[in-house]
Amino acid sequence: MTKNEILNAAAILLDGGLVGLPTETVYGLAADASNVEAVRKIFRAKQRPEDHPLIVHVGTLEQLTDWARDIPDAAFLLAKTFWPGPLTMILRKAPKVHDLITGGQDTVGVRMPDHPVALAVLQAFGGGLAAPSANRFGRISPTTAAAVREELGDAVDLVLEGGRCAVGVESTIIDLSGTQPAILRPGAIAAAEIAAVLQCDVLAAQKNAPRVSGSLALHYAPQTKTRLATHIELQKILAQNVEPIAIMALHELPAANKQITIVAMPHEPRAYAHDLYHTLRMLDKKHFQQIIIETLPEDAAWDAIRDRVRRAVHS
Ligand code: TXA
Ligand code: MG
Repeated sequence: MTKNEILNAAAILLDGGLVGLPTETVYGLAADASNVEAVRKIFRAKQRPEDHPLIVHVGTLEQLTDWARDIPDAAFLLAKTFWPGPLTMILRKAPKVHDLITGGQDTVGVRMPDHPVALAVLQAFGGGLAAPSANRFGRISPTTAAAVREELGDAVDLVLEGGRCAVGVESTIIDLSGTQPAILRPGAIAAAEIAAVLQCDVLAAQKNAPRVSGSLALHYAPQTKTRLATHIELQKILAQNVEPIAIMALHELPAANKQITIVAMPHEPRAYAHDLYHTLRMLDKKHFQQIIIETLPEDAAWDAIRDRVRRAVHS
């Protein structure tokens, strides 16, 4: 990353253009959040329905008050603890925030990303950047600059290189606009960590919460038919299978025939999250008959991963 690249990105954004932006979670498709025409381009590039709200990314804590009002102390406490980082807070929106960003709701999502390139662009730009994940609607979020180019091609004016995303799945979304904090989307920051900071109960993610596009039953899906199987089911599949398939395995499997590609996934949830979309995207290009994901542990450390895998599988 050079100073010139950052200044160029800021100039494109100030001019109403779109920039593919690395963050620590996934790559974002950024536009000036205060420019409606620029924000409209995001929806066009992603082919995303206009009623799906966007997250505003800020570079300083002070900017929070530009986008939100009636901000509870809990929000400042969480921001001080977890920002920059993979936590999006849903707050009551400031009057100037356009309906296109909020999906017509009275709330807005705000986060400060923890990536040197994103922070440098935010600093050079000076304002808030609306940025959904830089994939076409319903597809897997990109975790490399190359994947952003694959997804969006000419629809984006510039894609900044920022290496592979450290976290690998989208931010935790916590709704602070109601009476009790509620997780709308699980992510790297766990409900228990938030509860420990706020010293209160945090409602767990509810399946299919209506206002989060990531909560549609099928989302983040590869094009290849993708399904789940237990270790025992996988052993049977290996014994019988004759089709070209790929398996994302957690436990060791006996040697298979060469039709079958086995990817040994990490056992540790952070490492698994880092590899999840990257591996799905890689396998999706290879035209297997199926991608089979070994079922995941049930404990809370795997919440975000189980959530994304559930959306990737074709029921
Ligand atoms: O990690 C991330 O959050 C990435 C990076 C680029 O920052 N961004 C991301 O954006 O995942 P997107 O648009 O793909 O997902 C944002 C989610 C959507 O599911 C949207 O519905 C929800 O946030 N959201 C945004 N504003 C909201 C609001 N006011 N109320 C409820 N949900 C909201
Ligand atoms: Mg997304």
